[in-house]
Amino acid sequence: MRRRMKHIALAALFVSCTTSVMGVDLTKAYEMPDASKLIQKDLLGPPQKYTMPKSCNLNDPAAIARGEFMFHNLNGKKAKKNPPKGLAKFIEVKGKDGKVKKKPKQYGNCVACHNIEGAVGAGNIGPSLMNYKALFIETKVRDPQFVYQKIADPRIDNPETHMTVNLTTGLFNEQEICDYVAYVISDKKKK
Ligand code: HEC
Repeated sequence: MRRRMKHIALAALFVSCTTSVMGVDLTKAYEMPDASKLIQKDLLGPPQKYTMPKSCNLNDPAAIARGEFMFHNLNGKKAKKNPPKGLAKFIEVKGKDGKVKKKPKQYGNCVACHNIEGAVGAGNIGPSLMNYKALFIETKVRDPQFVYQKIADPRIDNPETHMTVNLTTGLFNEQEICDYVAYVISDKKKK
């Protein structure tokens, strides 16, 4: 009989302990961000058509060099060599506190998905862009406008694409898309 009393007392103690823990409202212990707002912020805008600007100078060696640097690098912090003329390693942005801060300039890191001349450790999610000029431009299978649209917003030509959207997202500006096109369609045989 005594034993049974002990058991009942222990059980009562257990129940009171667990309910007091469970009774605490843990949602107040940390901040709960509004997920719908976060998702809205990250949503891609609708696919957009672009016309390659007339200012695109596809034969300019400086443009080709900038395109090459952005193609093979992720950002200005990780890039080893010096960037070519007209391309920065760091950009200045105004923080929430109003102070101007240096931020590494974002590049395309296109080698993560595409093989191309001189690529180190290229990925194969996207097609190889090796010998692109001879295989696709000279044969008229592709033209610079196609390549411009593809890099600016690949969803126009292929709604199911796995490629990054570069102009609609504001990741890059028109001039930088021109630089990528100039590099992709450039003659790289002499290298
Ligand atoms: C996440 C992977 C990924 C990244 C990063 C990526 N691409 Fe692509 N790319 C693809 C895929 C997949 C395709 C094929 C599907 C398509 O055409 O949309 C493609 C297609 C292309 C084509 C069209 C080739 C042709 O003639 O059909 C070009 C040009 C191109 N990419 C250039 C670039 C450039 C320049 C960058 C860097 C700014 C880049 N890509 C970054 C995945 C990627």
